[in-house]
Amino acid sequence: MTQLIVALDVPSAEEAEQLVEQLRELDVLVKIGLEALYGYPERILSYCEARDVRMFVDAKLHDIPRTVGAAIKQLVRPNVHVINVHALGGLEMMRAAVDASGERSAELGITPPHIFAVTILTSIGAEDFNELGLQGGPGENAIRLAALARDAGCSGVVCSAHEVRDLKRFFGDDFLTLTPGIRPTGSAHGDQKRVTTPAQAVAAGADYLVVGRPIVEAPDAFAAARAILEEMSVEASSGTTR
Ligand code: C5P
Repeated sequence: MTQLIVALDVPSAEEAEQLVEQLRELDVLVKIGLEALYGYPERILSYCEARDVRMFVDAKLHDIPRTVGAAIKQLVRPNVHVINVHALGGLEMMRAAVDASGERSAELGITPPHIFAVTILTSIGAEDFNELGLQGGPGENAIRLAALARDAGCSGVVCSAHEVRDLKRFFGDDFLTLTPGIRPTGSAHGDQKRVTTPAQAVAAGADYLVVGRPIVEAPDAFAAARAILEEMSVEASSGTTR
């Protein structure tokens, strides 16, 4: 079943905690991204841990393998369900992340968090590829980087929902996909270029959907999240095949 992850993209710990409280009744995970990790990391991580809220730590690590492994060890803790790294950091770096997650979890006696690799950011469109000097388009690069992530032992990739069908076809259903760039019909795209609706992402077979602004900036975050969960479950039960 596809899970919803709400991005706690807010500038203060107070606002993040308020969002966690508002969403507590719902079956969602929360995403601790760069804004929270640089601004108020310990406070929000312990807050969620104490309340048994499952977390995706969107650390987007990209450094030499030893440094990434060491950072992963600092982030592993109970209730951290997913941590991510950039696939462009390379095979050895991704392996170091997977190994560190396993080692630290064994020391703590907990289930290791999944390590996911970011393929191509959903804010990068085809036109940005030329500018970066990269060959091919976002789709084919995402597939190539996903193969590297799978070889490194990652549980799955962060990708656009547009790539989910191909990824599942190539790597099988057990290779997980986590998709940002989700916009309910009628909501603003902001800086996201490759967007889909919650229903389209579920129909494509995404395992996790990440939603930030459409929930965080809504007048009622609880109602906005509940509406997205409803759209997801209607799509799931309609049995649309991939
Ligand atoms: O507000 P919005 O729904 O666009 O938020 C998406 C969240 O997912 C942001 O926190 C962003 O950092 C994150 N993300 C992304 N694209 C990726 C990986 C993570 O948008 N490839």
